[in-house]
Amino acid sequence: MTYCPEPNRYHQNRFRRCGDSALRLPLISLGLWQNFGGVNAFEDGRAVLRHAFDRGVTHFDCANMYGPPGGSAEVNLGRMMRTDFSAHRDELIISSKAGYEMWPGPYGIGASRKHLIASIDQTLDRLGVDYVDIFYAHRPWPDDPMEETMAAMADIVRHGKALYVGVSSFSPERTRRAAELLRSEGVRLLIHQPSYSMFNRHIEAGLLDTLGELGVGCIGFSALAQGLLTDRYIDSTPSTARASERSSFSAEFLSEDNLRRVRALADIARRRGQSLAQMAIAWVLRDAGVTSALIGARTVEQLDDSLNSLNRLDFTSGELAEIDQYAQEGGIDLWRETSSL
Ligand SMILES: NC(=O)c1ccc[n+]([C@@H]2O[C@H](COP(=O)([O-])OP(=O)(O)OC[C@H]3O[C@@H](n4cnc5c(N)ncnc54)[C@H](OP(=O)(O)O)[C@@H]3O)[C@@H](O)[C@H]2O)c1
Repeated sequence: MTYCPEPNRYHQNRFRRCGDSALRLPLISLGLWQNFGGVNAFEDGRAVLRHAFDRGVTHFDCANMYGPPGGSAEVNLGRMMRTDFSAHRDELIISSKAGYEMWPGPYGIGASRKHLIASIDQTLDRLGVDYVDIFYAHRPWPDDPMEETMAAMADIVRHGKALYVGVSSFSPERTRRAAELLRSEGVRLLIHQPSYSMFNRHIEAGLLDTLGELGVGCIGFSALAQGLLTDRYIDSTPSTARASERSSFSAEFLSEDNLRRVRALADIARRRGQSLAQMAIAWVLRDAGVTSALIGARTVEQLDDSLNSLNRLDFTSGELAEIDQYAQEGGIDLWRETSSL
């Protein structure tokens, strides 16, 4: 059926300026890491993206290797760009990334000019668009000279293949260096994409301050800790859930201690009149230095629930203090090692 977006969509989300740039991102953005690949039903993903756009989500985040199989999330997004969003390209911020293994051999991974230029070309081909809005170095590769990586990123901007560039899971020191190198090329480091949730607060120990100082935006990913910070696992593990289906959700995440703290947080959320997912997203956004919360959703219902966090973003100091008792390290950050390189 022909897609006609909701006319009131811009009253449904709110926008924050991305660092010191002129670009505004929605408070909640949607990522296609899981649930949108070749193994998933295309129409399910399509319904989620349509609903997201209807509710003012103007930013869809992808990467070359999202799927599975790698590349298939971009192929599916490209199909939706053609069928549903072709008249709305200028209303959308589409991002992609390169750096993790994508094709065989030494040029299919890493931070070389060879990998990055080949990867952006493949991405544009899969998406069927002329440019992406944001192109990221997906992770740091300490053995690869950052001068080469950032010069390639700057060329990608100069050649019109990306409007802005970002980095993901970079330490504060590497972020500073990346910003400096890009500046010397006349290009702004727009944004950093780190993991951030109530069970993974590492960015509070320096990265957020560095980004504030540099005027770089921050889009925190996995605000729901891949679903752990929701009501899904409180009583048992559902068979249709990331914990049962995907290796990225380790059984160790469901430790007794984590589940005890999930239950306590769910109780606070209930008293606030929210679901735990809604409170987890609102909590990530409590710091104005976080431009956007980057979430995932398997269904339209999950997305709706998550977007309803916008109905209550404020916290009293008493609530924040109570949350602090339980919002502590949960051993769920798969990206911790990379972000401390
Ligand atoms: N830069 C990087 O290295 C990197 C790494 C990871 C992610 N990301 C980005 O961040 C995006 C989000 O990551 P993520 O998918 O891990 O985010 P997330 O929001 O923490 O987890 C999404 C999962 O939580 C569950 N869920 C979502 N909304 C729910 C709700 N309202 N109630 C109950 N359960 C709910 C669903 O789990 P079930 O599927 O189990 O139902 C869903 O698949 C990715 O798509 C990607 O764009 C970037």
